[in-house]
Amino acid sequence: MIMKTALITGANKGIGYETAKQLAKLGYYVYLGCREASLGQEAVDKLVESGLTNVESIQLDVTDPITIKESCKAIENKSNQLDVLINNAGILGLIPQPASTYSVEEIRKVFDTNFFGTIRVTQAFIPLLRKSDSGRIVNVTSGLGSLTLHTDPNWQYFHFKSAGYSISKAALNGFTIMLAFDLKDTDIKVNSIDPNYTATDFNNHRGERTPEQSAKVIVKYATLDNNGPTGKYFNEEGELPW
Ligand SMILES: NC(=O)c1ccc[n+]([C@@H]2O[C@H](COP(=O)([O-])OP(=O)(O)OC[C@H]3O[C@@H](n4cnc5c(N)ncnc54)[C@H](OP(=O)(O)O)[C@@H]3O)[C@@H](O)[C@H]2O)c1
Repeated sequence: MIMKTALITGANKGIGYETAKQLAKLGYYVYLGCREASLGQEAVDKLVESGLTNVESIQLDVTDPITIKESCKAIENKSNQLDVLINNAGILGLIPQPASTYSVEEIRKVFDTNFFGTIRVTQAFIPLLRKSDSGRIVNVTSGLGSLTLHTDPNWQYFHFKSAGYSISKAALNGFTIMLAFDLKDTDIKVNSIDPNYTATDFNNHRGERTPEQSAKVIVKYATLDNNGPTGKYFNEEGELPW
């Protein structure tokens, strides 16, 4: 049987790295998209040491169209198709992000990675995903991207407002809906997945969960069978309101 292939952006550490590890354990050939080639190689070396040899680092900065094009060409040459794309690379931006003062320049930086970066990578890899008979796209979002929850004063993160980060994830969720509609007559499924508050460099390890726990929900939606949902927003507990 031919090995299925997966590409994960921002895979040298945190949730992306753990997702790479879990997919490799399931037998996928995993490309770790990393903006720093040396960090990507270190991540791959760690996986190889743990006995996972079906992994490879690929230089990919989601804000740099040249690296996206080149990584796409490299994956096409080696694997011809892509079965799973996980748009995981993300940045938080400066904290705090009050809507009345957070600058357009800073908001633009966050959007360039979390929103435009995802669109750039996705559009580049759609032709390779179309060659799979079970293409899956996971857009790694956040519960903070839910506009509905942000208007509920009883929500546990009601006070975590961020004019750059949260809105970039709400926009990303919008892209999930639009893309799923566009691909509805294909074998490709696309969902927005919230990994929940996780201890990584992203939040100085303040999150409550381990990357291992959080990667599981991403892997679940990356490996959906053909009857699985598309165009939806989930966390580990179930569907989330947009
Ligand atoms: N941790 C949480 O509590 C939490 C909760 C909800 C959602 N999320 C989402 O989960 C995803 C992963 O976060 P994490 O907690 O694992 O954070 P992390 O440990 O900071 O990892 C982020 C990864 O994204 C990469 N990255 C950033 N900008 C990039 C770019 N322009 N091109 C390519 N890669 C880039 C980073 O690379 P470098 O090492 O080179 O910086 C790193 O590999 C993010 O989308 C985040 O928004 C996290």
